[in-house]
Amino acid sequence: MPKLTIRDVNLRGKRVLVRVDYNVPLEESGGRVVITDDTRIRETLPTLNLLREQGARIILASHLGRPKGKRDSSLSLAPVAQRLAELTGRPVQFVDDCVGAEVEETVANLQNGDLLLLENVRFYPEEEANDPQFAARLASVADAYVNDAFGSAHRAHASTEGAARVVASRGGPCVAGLLMEKELYYLGHELENPAKPFVVILGGAKVSDKIMVIQRLLEKADALLIGGAMAYTFRLAQGHKTGKSLVEPDKIDVAKAAVAEAERRGVKFLLPVDDVVAVPVKTDKLDKKGKPVIDYQQVRVNSTLDTPDGFAGLDIGPATVRAYSEVIKGARTILWNGPMGLFENKTFAQGTNDIAKAVVEATERGAKSIIGGGDSVKALNKLGFGPKVTFMSTGGGASLEFLEGKVLPGVAVLNDKA
Ligand code: 3PG
Repeated sequence: MPKLTIRDVNLRGKRVLVRVDYNVPLEESGGRVVITDDTRIRETLPTLNLLREQGARIILASHLGRPKGKRDSSLSLAPVAQRLAELTGRPVQFVDDCVGAEVEETVANLQNGDLLLLENVRFYPEEEANDPQFAARLASVADAYVNDAFGSAHRAHASTEGAARVVASRGGPCVAGLLMEKELYYLGHELENPAKPFVVILGGAKVSDKIMVIQRLLEKADALLIGGAMAYTFRLAQGHKTGKSLVEPDKIDVAKAAVAEAERRGVKFLLPVDDVVAVPVKTDKLDKKGKPVIDYQQVRVNSTLDTPDGFAGLDIGPATVRAYSEVIKGARTILWNGPMGLFENKTFAQGTNDIAKAVVEATERGAKSIIGGGDSVKALNKLGFGPKVTFMSTGGGASLEFLEGKVLPGVAVLNDKA
């Protein structure tokens, strides 16, 4: 059922609690916190502009990172307030709390069109617990609720779900923002009855992460193109050797069932016909996240379906790129979720980059291309291809759950269109 949006209600003079997903990547540089990708902030600007034109008093709430219910100054939203002020060209007030007396006082002094950003809601453990009292405190300053945080809509937390219930129980409107509306349109409506041929490209590390999406999309797709490490579980299921490639032996049956179902439905189910392999060697260095750095030696293209002993498969090979690009060329709708290899390492980024080019070329010829968030969006942005596809989701986990056909609590709670 479609949801009411901010276009459908009159929010003039109303105090509007707007849940946004400003969970943006940060880096410390020269003693300053720098936002390395502000896409999620930019994408809310149409909502904020419309709310301002309507004369709403805008109270923004978001989480940032996973502070586990404790104050953590490195996860403050203060740098986001600054960036938002730059992007909107208007002052953005900031309170270093999300509930309490200072929030109440600041909201009481807001004028129509003013913008206030609250501090990280996850500084309170009650946020993730969806504590009703905390939700009531968040909602106490609002007459209306707007959810524009598609990226967090799979979480039933106080700011994404509980607060909306409180506003609704008082008869206040609970509606979608324009970004939420756009996400639901492309990932939902457009893929419900896609123009055919509908080609789905799925990558990433694990079959277990994508199996529900595969099962659901087999009902609609004409072709499924598989890449990333998850391809090796399918190869294992076909009795091939996978060397040191990442595999999930306990998912062999699931993989076999998916291939059988594709056959039954007449859906093309393509697996890589060649790959780029290398010998992974552990070093004693650690990366920024504290994980051991792996050195990849003896990199080469492997044209057989068996991974040689001691080698791991890390990218799709050139013959696979050609075969997949040919299918993508004929598509009228494309959905892409997950990279084709270990694209963060440029030695293994070629397959992902070439598939991105094929998707862009198909889009230029009139296909609709929908990129399902997370790493595939990162890969496209790295190449500067973001504006060349039809739609890129701002959600990672949320877009995956939505594509699986799950009901997202942050969407379910919003008012239905009559
Ligand atoms: C995301 O980045 O996917 C969203 O902001 C949700 O974050 P979470 O996985 O920490 O809930």
